[in-house]
Amino acid sequence: MTVTVTAHARYVISDIDPRLYGSFIEHLGRAVYTGIYEPQHDSADENGMRRDVIDLVRELDVPVVRYPGGNFVSAYNWEDGIGPKDQRPVRLDLAWHTSESNEVGLHEFADWCKAAGTELMLAVNLGSRGLDEARNFLEYANHKGGSYWSDLRIANGRKEPFDVKLWCLGNEMDGPWQIGHKTAEEYGRLAHETAKAMRAFDKSLELVVCGSSNAKMPTYPAWEATVLDLTYNEVDYISLHMYFDNKANNTADYLAQNKKLDDYIVSVAGVIDFIKAKKRSSKRVYISFDEWNVWYHSNEQDRKILEGNDGWPFAPPLLEDIYNFEDVLQVGLIINTFIRRSDVVRIACLAQLVNVIAPIMTEPGGKAWRQTIFYPFLFASRHGRGKALDLKVSGPTYHAPSVGEVDCLDVAAVHDEAQGFVTFFVVNRSETSHPIEISLEGFGDAATLSDHQVMTHADLKAVNTAARPDAVVPAQGRGVTVTGTRLTGAISAYSYHMIRLK
Ligand code: AHR
Repeated sequence: MTVTVTAHARYVISDIDPRLYGSFIEHLGRAVYTGIYEPQHDSADENGMRRDVIDLVRELDVPVVRYPGGNFVSAYNWEDGIGPKDQRPVRLDLAWHTSESNEVGLHEFADWCKAAGTELMLAVNLGSRGLDEARNFLEYANHKGGSYWSDLRIANGRKEPFDVKLWCLGNEMDGPWQIGHKTAEEYGRLAHETAKAMRAFDKSLELVVCGSSNAKMPTYPAWEATVLDLTYNEVDYISLHMYFDNKANNTADYLAQNKKLDDYIVSVAGVIDFIKAKKRSSKRVYISFDEWNVWYHSNEQDRKILEGNDGWPFAPPLLEDIYNFEDVLQVGLIINTFIRRSDVVRIACLAQLVNVIAPIMTEPGGKAWRQTIFYPFLFASRHGRGKALDLKVSGPTYHAPSVGEVDCLDVAAVHDEAQGFVTFFVVNRSETSHPIEISLEGFGDAATLSDHQVMTHADLKAVNTAARPDAVVPAQGRGVTVTGTRLTGAISAYSYHMIRLK
């Protein structure tokens, strides 16, 4: 049965905020040390940052990177990471049971962001600390000078403010695992007062309040309702997190999980609307989906590392998931969901960026390489900017045990009006090939095929490794033709496609 897709230039979901293709670096495992920072590495720049990694981040064109955590931030003293490096304290990181040397802190990371062509998104510690730490951190980072904290920044070698606009008010504060975990009321009050103080410094900041750590939390979605009720007027975004796994080794069900993601987004959008109405507010709070990815391949190895060590290792190889081809499809499906919900999800961060559940891996002293999931993120980040189109899709479905019926082909499309491209992202999550017919309406009389990249593999579990980094890579697509404003072709079983029409 043919899958028919209709795209009309005037049927638009939303302008996509480019920050939909953000990412995340936490002081966790080897994300920072031997990830982005390795002064002894051949490629290290004058700041000790690996140029080979910077090049790969630039290739991904990541518009924003969240930092420094994650769970790490909830017991982090930002002051430990400023001033002369040889005087910075080594601390015990309670979140990941490791040692933190503090060689990299705000200055070094902000310089790295500049080198990597990305914007910094900072998180304040609302776990072990609170409002006072947040306001001091903000004054240090953003005030031009003439005050205690801003003058200290200048004394530390940075005259111009970092001018960070986007701030997270803590991390996963609903999680009992979080250092300084709080009830929704406790957190909502603290977040409100912290946001108020931060806004007293600068009204134009963009502030992100914590939503649920995942949709299975017992407090979800009452958490969102309570927290937003207490903070609505002071914040701009509510954060959501979600990780995916195929522990059951059930591909059909695994690749249907973006239905749960969609339900999660729609439900939280409903809570936002409810509080908006309750407050008689004209302001809209949006979603910052600031942690998402596949995370399960490394669970066993992490258990061994953490259980087998009674010390506090420095930069151990934690959360080093090695992604397979199946995960390419999953990441494509997740991003398609964000594109279709880009009217409410304005920011999203692939968690994380280097070594820790990441598209980019490094060998200490060795090379940097691309995981399988690098590619669907790359295509979306590079070609998924513009207007998300409200497609009409009709075609075969299959039944997934945990979510019910899902389309065999998952399709999203983005219209880049300035450059004149319409880009389709198509994931065939089924085990059979499907003919496809895409009709363009309102884009002009004729279209041409500008690019077609395809990812497919005989083995769903195939991975890239340092020794073989090109086992799973995109190839030029074949077998689709464009006649006038109609594209026809076949989408093979278990495949990812980026199709650009001009
Ligand atoms: O990204 C890994 C961890 O996942 C983060 O530290 C935490 O916020 C989440 O639970």
